[in-house]
Amino acid sequence: MSITITHPQNSKITTQAVIRTKNTMYALGIFADRFPVHLYYGKKSRSADLTYRSRGSAFSPYYPEYGDGYMATTVSSEFPTFGMGEFRAAAIRVRDLSTGSDATEFSFRKMKKYKGRVAINAPIYGELPYAEADGNTETLEMILDDRVTGCELHLYYTVFPESDVIARHMTLINKGKTPVSLEKCMSLCLDIPDSKYGLDLISTYGAHARERHVDRYKLSYGVHRITSRRGASSHMENPCILLCDPKATEERGEAYGFNIVYSGDFLDELEVDPSKKTRVLIGLGDETFSWRLEAGESFTSPEAVMTYSAHGIGEVSRNLHRFTCNHILPAEPFERRPVVLNSWEAFYFNIDGKLMEDFAAGAAEVGIDMPVMDDGWFGERRHDRAGLGDWYPHPSLFPDGLKAFVERVKAKGVRFGIWIEPEMVNPDSDLYRAHPEWALAAPGRVPLESRQQLVLDMGNPAVVDYLSESFATCFKDVPLDYFKWDMNRHLSPVYSNVLPRERQKEASFRHMCGVYELFRRLRALFPHAMIENCSGGGGRYDLGMMKYSTQIWCSDNTDPVSRTYIQYGSTLGYPAATMSCHVANHGSSIEDPRKLNYGFRVALNGPLGYELNILGAGDTAKATMSGQIKEYRAYEHLILRGDFYRLLDPFACGRYAYYFASPDSRELLVTYLQNYGDPKKTVYTLKIGRAVKGVTYRDTVSGKTFTGEELRKGISVESDTEGLYAVMWHLVAE
Ligand code: GLA
Repeated sequence: MSITITHPQNSKITTQAVIRTKNTMYALGIFADRFPVHLYYGKKSRSADLTYRSRGSAFSPYYPEYGDGYMATTVSSEFPTFGMGEFRAAAIRVRDLSTGSDATEFSFRKMKKYKGRVAINAPIYGELPYAEADGNTETLEMILDDRVTGCELHLYYTVFPESDVIARHMTLINKGKTPVSLEKCMSLCLDIPDSKYGLDLISTYGAHARERHVDRYKLSYGVHRITSRRGASSHMENPCILLCDPKATEERGEAYGFNIVYSGDFLDELEVDPSKKTRVLIGLGDETFSWRLEAGESFTSPEAVMTYSAHGIGEVSRNLHRFTCNHILPAEPFERRPVVLNSWEAFYFNIDGKLMEDFAAGAAEVGIDMPVMDDGWFGERRHDRAGLGDWYPHPSLFPDGLKAFVERVKAKGVRFGIWIEPEMVNPDSDLYRAHPEWALAAPGRVPLESRQQLVLDMGNPAVVDYLSESFATCFKDVPLDYFKWDMNRHLSPVYSNVLPRERQKEASFRHMCGVYELFRRLRALFPHAMIENCSGGGGRYDLGMMKYSTQIWCSDNTDPVSRTYIQYGSTLGYPAATMSCHVANHGSSIEDPRKLNYGFRVALNGPLGYELNILGAGDTAKATMSGQIKEYRAYEHLILRGDFYRLLDPFACGRYAYYFASPDSRELLVTYLQNYGDPKKTVYTLKIGRAVKGVTYRDTVSGKTFTGEELRKGISVESDTEGLYAVMWHLVAE
């Protein structure tokens, strides 16, 4: 059992719960049968100190009956509430609409544990995405009451012992007689003791075509907020953060990882208080959210996740990878991930049925599994100014219809995929002309455009119905294998025409619920097709999207050098199996063997694809691609399911090196990528810690053999003088 509940005698802690995962331990207690306090999170250990400590401090309000035995703003709290003596950032703020008071307080009633987990119900449209339980999953549920408003608060700790992950969420039920408003809703709080003051925060930031660039800095006094107000997790922000000992490396030192299973406005709020305690809060973005609960109604937060390792940043990443692969990602749709050939960089909007058939024939010739018809095939979509929202194949492009066209393509021995962008509408579309009120826009203000498009109000059930019916009709009997689901602008202003004035701050969350509902409907309509997620590249690279998407288009930037940075940053929190990587053709680079090889080696960080006009490729390039696909297939099991280790950080040295290890460590795939020439011929040592002593490994690329000891000491690689340079070692135990 992962969870133990006890009732310590002669202690201010009247109930204690301890959660144990494979390598970690988490402990909480109930102070005076009333307030949940945090006791421990760290390495699993019998001697861990689980003592509750209170600290008196002037100017800290207290309950007269407890004095300095419990001061809300000095204790380590499990779920701090706003306005009752807590001056640090709070996890929850509930407004009593009958009085206007925000003073939020909950008292413990009971806790229970059970096998498995509860679903996360969305207030509209069924469910939010959440981690799937397996036979080892257990849940601790704590129930608290607010005597004043009558609200009931449920805190859930869902334990995934094999991944060292604890997932947390909350439900607020208004059991009172009058309405309340949930003004701040976080899913997770972790208070880290002052003894660990000065942790480094590792996060990723970016832009379109520059996603997930890594930032690391020391957290010192004050509030640090990483938040998205864009209605999407976005290219600019990402909810996954790590905290670590300032000396922590990939292999050494304490580190924590946090994320949220949500794709909309999130908030990672970190506060180092003057006593040097660090508080971590993960939840919904508080500036674009509030939720009104009438008597009897409830609201459930998205699920946030946390992990800990005493063995470095790399281990935290691997915990998050394992968790995502085993509990978030959908089941693999096919026996093997299809190697795709996408039409976007080949033809942009200039596609038609005949051209796509030739494209498919070209794909089949080199052994590519699946041509994908990107933007430009529907409505009046011959450019980005029109057509979004009108989901029917353009008749002149497919004279005998989409079904006959796709059947002809598939007769060439390939699968077939298609691009859609469901959440959007161009003002120049039949849909917008019929339903301008379906787009998000503030009353009296000009609808702001971005890429000539507006965002549909997915919180309006009529919109979700229209879209699912459109896709059901458009793709009826069309044997599609894949959708590329795109999303090419952010939400602003967010105002819904179907919500009353007092509920407008619900619009962004409701929108996200509608997006998830449409994902589920599309999957139900086409259960055999996989979804590749995209938002102008990797603008929604998050666990919410991963619940419904097998892989995510990592970035619109297909330059391999830029990709080394984006891919490195993506691996901090997300597994390689999600990272759709294409070889592209910049300035005829595929005709240059060195560049084609480099692009391919860079792309081997995730499921492989191509993004180029195969019809213009020369015979040598085509033959090389055929060989590449065969090589990828030999490594695919390691890339999709192996354990991932970072070795060289491109942000630090312009070189990216990493390896995958099979679970039994008998197969290793090591990659070294060099982004520019180095006349100094610097030597880098790649230490393969997973190599097993006493085992001899043969490199299937060079034919050389290495002992496990040699690999652990490190393979030496001399940097190349000329420029783009890549080396791989595929090491198999003899
Ligand atoms: C986005 C995607 C691209 C492509 C275009 C089509 O930018 O990231 O891959 O699909 O849209 O408009």
